[in-house]
Amino acid sequence: MGIETSCDETAAAVVRGGRTVLSNVVVSSLKEHQPYGGVIPEIASRRQMECIYPVVAKALKAAGLNLRQIDAVAVTQEPGLIGSLLVGISFARALSFALEKPLAQVNHVQAHLYAPFLSPAPPSLPAVGLVVSGGHTSLYFIKDFRRFQLLGQTRDDAAGEAFDKTARLLGLGYPGGPVIDRLAQKAGGSAISFKAAAMPGTLDFSFSGIKTAVLYHKQRYQGRYPLAEAAYAFQEGVVSVLVEKCLQACLRMKTKTLVVGGGVAANSALRRKMSDAARRNSLDVHFPSISLCMDNAAMIAGLGYHRIPKPKRQRGKHGKIF
Ligand code: KG4
Ligand code: ZN
Repeated sequence: MGIETSCDETAAAVVRGGRTVLSNVVVSSLKEHQPYGGVIPEIASRRQMECIYPVVAKALKAAGLNLRQIDAVAVTQEPGLIGSLLVGISFARALSFALEKPLAQVNHVQAHLYAPFLSPAPPSLPAVGLVVSGGHTSLYFIKDFRRFQLLGQTRDDAAGEAFDKTARLLGLGYPGGPVIDRLAQKAGGSAISFKAAAMPGTLDFSFSGIKTAVLYHKQRYQGRYPLAEAAYAFQEGVVSVLVEKCLQACLRMKTKTLVVGGGVAANSALRRKMSDAARRNSLDVHFPSISLCMDNAAMIAGLGYHRIPKPKRQRGKHGKIF
């Protein structure tokens, strides 16, 4: 049983053997945050308090199981909104204690990279992993599921955050990623060009500059602003740097497998351009299904399966370990 409450979502899922998703329930308070243009932590955690029990019950029912049939509990430990994390962790700990089943506490960002492995034909290891979400943009080397080596990360905004902020300054609403993706598809090309910083010699990213470039371009523009073209150019700028860094990371780590996860992994241009680049460079690239790109508990249960702690030795009558 996986439980995830790191941001605006309350999610529970049942996964068998770290591979097969038996159920995957996600309830989001996104609509309540939309008027503010971002997630309000207090609203998120209050909703999670209300939703956690019914969501877990629904995940069990959808899997056709009862609580006693759960072998282990996994929960997002970090990173995330503190009040939100607390709801999931408290619930998971209570569940593990009551059922006398082990509890695995996993890192949410690393769990995003487990999503492509929830498949009947999972990628092979070692692999380079790119996480592109609303809060994180990181490259990892995954030797096995216990060891994730950080290769590089954003120095400022995350890729999803750049999508959200750019959409906001273009007056397109929140969350910005899907709106920009749709508009860019409509435009199909652009005379405008925006570039994200290359950060040469590193596997780090920086996306705050490209967002500011869009802002200045819009402020200077005379006449009706070509929103769709600007969205296309911004998306191209972000995607090309993501693809380039992935190729560099695979080369540096001498691996032919690339996995991508996180909300921005749903982006149609990223999926297309990464797949094209992989083909040209004989790399094997794996994306999760769209629903597993977004925050979910199946990825938590999946990674948790590999992180189940060994049972503690019990204490005897006089506190002695036997
Ligand atoms: O992984 P996620 O659900 O939550 C975090 O852990 O942050 O990612 C949410 C992010 C948001 O910034 C959203 O704008 C972005 O993913 N996103 C997209 C697309 N769909 C969601 N970004 C670009 N293109 C998309 N199609
Ligand atoms: Zn996430």
